[in-house]
Amino acid sequence: MLNFDFYNPTRVIFGDDRIAELPKRIPHDARILILYGGDSARRNGTLDEVLDALVGHEVFEFGGIEANPSYETLIKAVELVRAEKVDFLLAVGGGSVIDGAKFVATAATYDGDPLDILTRRMRIMNALPIGVVLTLAATGSETNNGAVITHQATQTKHTLMGERLYPVFAILDPTKTFTLDARQIGNGVVDAFVHVTEQYLTYPVNSPVQDRFAEGLLLTLIDQGPKALASSRDYDVRANLMWTASLALNGLIGSGVPHDWATHMIGHELTALYGIDHARTLAVVLPSMLKVRKDAKKEKLVQFAERVWGLTEGEDDQRIRYALARTSKFFESMGVPTKLSAYNLGQDAVENVLKHLEAHNMTALGEKRDVTLEISRKVLEGCL
Ligand code: NZQ
Ligand code: ZN
Repeated sequence: MLNFDFYNPTRVIFGDDRIAELPKRIPHDARILILYGGDSARRNGTLDEVLDALVGHEVFEFGGIEANPSYETLIKAVELVRAEKVDFLLAVGGGSVIDGAKFVATAATYDGDPLDILTRRMRIMNALPIGVVLTLAATGSETNNGAVITHQATQTKHTLMGERLYPVFAILDPTKTFTLDARQIGNGVVDAFVHVTEQYLTYPVNSPVQDRFAEGLLLTLIDQGPKALASSRDYDVRANLMWTASLALNGLIGSGVPHDWATHMIGHELTALYGIDHARTLAVVLPSMLKVRKDAKKEKLVQFAERVWGLTEGEDDQRIRYALARTSKFFESMGVPTKLSAYNLGQDAVENVLKHLEAHNMTALGEKRDVTLEISRKVLEGCL
């Protein structure tokens, strides 16, 4: 096992009817900014529930944070925070709203040009405290220290990370996900699945407990994902998915093991260039990525075939092939396409993504930094 620090200070407040506990978690004299996305949180009553719980607090609102939250939108929230001397941010939404709040929390305490935070990949030293009311299980942002922000002017997705970006608390009420449509349910399951594989399908370092955790999360997604699509109000299914998605990217399964993330880096370029939902880019890239790099990842892929897909017989190569086919089929069964042609993209897109990877210095990706542009080309051509 590799050396590691494990630190995760976020209080998870899990279960039905927990929003009413907000006042216990936010100082009474706090000046709070509630951040949210489009109209889903208002339409399904979550926003009203939050406002009711905070009666008597000083509350401001900032709505309109789009999927793949942009610097251009968020900078307006930074101005509001400064003007109103806000000192606590409450994100009500999915990964985009939470990530947006993380950027605002950082930018509001930064003296220089807020764009530096994205372009200079600075270590985040300071940020306002953030709380979360989660409405979409997918990214794990509610209990981690990362955020992904799009700079629309340059079509770039920037990642920021820092200890101060862990939310202070995250309310995970599974009933808040009842109103998700099939597309977002599918996206959430695929995103969590790929978060696990990025930390699991690398090379062995004798980490049996991380492996068993990872396999448990994958098996849960495979079992519960289709059930969530079939029934919009099954509390237990939504609860299982919500907790699984958080555990997939809260630092636990990634401690002491190598990380890949090449699929995510290529996926981010596809989103930045063509606006494809984050998880949908991953469903396209992952199967091809694993196929192209199957020799370097052989031992873990055989383990994945055996323990996740139950493929215990036959040659290793054949089992890997079947496991990848089953993975693609699972994504498709969740309503998430696995080929670029589903988005009417072809060779031009491959060339564009490669150009952007190069411009963003994404030329040595993966757990061994051996995913060069040539390998990325093979991966992308395998997505056509
Ligand atoms: O904007 P509204 O109207 O709220 O609608 C949202 C949005 O259109 C809707 N939605 C959310 N909760 C709902 C709901 N609709 C009905 N009922 C509800 N309860 O869902 C749509 C998508 O929301 P979004 O927050 O964009 O989705 P997701 O949680 O998948 O977040 C994606 C973003 O997270 C980043 C991605 O790059 C992308 O920008 N990621 C963040 C990570 C992190 N911080 O650790 C890691 C990930 O790999 C990922 O990169
Ligand atoms: Zn992701």
